[in-house]
Amino acid sequence: MLIPIKQVLSKDEVRQFRNHLDAATWQDGLHTAGTLASAVKRNLQLEDGVEPALSLGNHILRKLAANPAFISAALPDRIYPPKFNRYQDGGSYGAHVDSAVMQVPGMPISVRSDLSATLFLAEPEEYDGGELEIESAFGIQAVKLEAGDMVLYPSSSLHRVTPVTRGARIASFFWIQSMVGDAAARTLLFDLDQAIQGLTDTLGRDNRDLLKLTGIYHNLLRRWAMT
Ligand code: NI
Repeated sequence: MLIPIKQVLSKDEVRQFRNHLDAATWQDGLHTAGTLASAVKRNLQLEDGVEPALSLGNHILRKLAANPAFISAALPDRIYPPKFNRYQDGGSYGAHVDSAVMQVPGMPISVRSDLSATLFLAEPEEYDGGELEIESAFGIQAVKLEAGDMVLYPSSSLHRVTPVTRGARIASFFWIQSMVGDAAARTLLFDLDQAIQGLTDTLGRDNRDLLKLTGIYHNLLRRWAMT
């Protein structure tokens, strides 16, 4: 399932990010492509683990930790330190699947990629092309969101970024290891949580049946969560 998370960053935060990113030195993305991906990857990336990637990445992680929509959708266990990329001058990323296990650079920690995230840092009208195309059971879905918005999609899905023919597409991207590794179970929990939130608005949070449903949500999570 493809889940948009609106306004992870405010427009003001996006402006501050862009001040740093537009002044930064970008490297050829081939430095970091796995063997599977290197043949199809044509973009620029920011060096990991140093400024400004470090501070901007940590800012994103702090915002996500306080974002109920993200927590509900991802049920995050571990998050890979956010990376940053830039597509311009016809740059693209051909169809690929993300690696299943990502080693965190300089740390004895790995992240199983259950979910992939793209946080858009350029407005759609700043560039032509640059759609994130994700293959799903329902066909190809093209994603191009407002700056500050993020999309979550299954890391197992085949996806690509179409060539950017005008301007620059700037984004942050990273992977999430979920407490609930099974995508179908995670989707059920997300749907149940959304329904509970909707009913809370109409019935009030003291409604007895709603309390039972909330209990079922947590008991399923207790059954399925692996931390
Ligand atoms: Ni990818």
